[in-house]
Amino acid sequence: MADPLLEISGLVTAYGPIKVLHGIDLVVNEGEIVTLVGANGAGKTTLMRCISGVQPLKADTIRFAGQPLAKVPNHGCAGLGIAHSPEGRQIFGDLSVEENLSLGGYHRSDDLTADMEEVYKLFPILKEKHHLAAGGLSGGQQEMLAIGRAIMGRPKLLLLDEPSMELAPVLVDQILEVIAALRDRGVTLLVVEQNAYAALSIADRSYVMETGKIALSGSAQDLISDPRVREAYLGA
Ligand SMILES: Nc1ncnc2c1ncn2[C@@H]1O[C@H](COP(=O)(O)OP(=O)(O)O)[C@@H](O)[C@H]1O
Ligand SMILES: [Mg+2]
Repeated sequence: MADPLLEISGLVTAYGPIKVLHGIDLVVNEGEIVTLVGANGAGKTTLMRCISGVQPLKADTIRFAGQPLAKVPNHGCAGLGIAHSPEGRQIFGDLSVEENLSLGGYHRSDDLTADMEEVYKLFPILKEKHHLAAGGLSGGQQEMLAIGRAIMGRPKLLLLDEPSMELAPVLVDQILEVIAALRDRGVTLLVVEQNAYAALSIADRSYVMETGKIALSGSAQDLISDPRVREAYLGA
């Protein structure tokens, strides 16, 4: 069994007085693709934000590569190796494709050219459009850009929040292929995916979230054959 890269235990968080996460336990081992499934409002995005440091941590509930994150100020930006492609992509529409990619490597002082070429190999359309404003890209291309920007920082752990949102099925397949390709390059992935079939088909393991708690977890095969998952998420 590989070492845990990300270990979450007893994570709670709130927006003001409203508790949103009620004690999350979750592990992502090095080299795995782990997916997170759950209805709207379950807390998936909030969990991703806690891991990447957008949402501050109050207690020592998350460890990354053995290091407690609560003690690292602004840990998502601290160059520890966590990259987050947020829900809704949040690219900079007025900046060019290339400028958006450069921003993904902002904390690196070395040359970004080779990494940019790697991104262009994964997504040739971004090379074609590298000088164009990112706001003019299609939804699928913007997703490719958001993923490309996230991997420019050479992350150990890549968090993808609903990468297939609002994409045509052919593009969803392309994004799923890229997720597998990234894993083959040594990136560990935690992916929020609304489409439960897609989520289970690419994952080594999955977690099902319900109202701020982990309701179920297991291998993709276990979950696909679980009657509760079939009924609630697979429409069976
Ligand atoms: N910035 C915020 N302020 C207050 N409540 C929020 C905020 N973001 C999300 N919530 C609430 O937290 C809960 C979990 O939301 P979220 O993490 O976005 O879930 P999911 O990504 O699973 O749809 C929801 O009830 C949502 O309304
Ligand atoms: Mg969400």
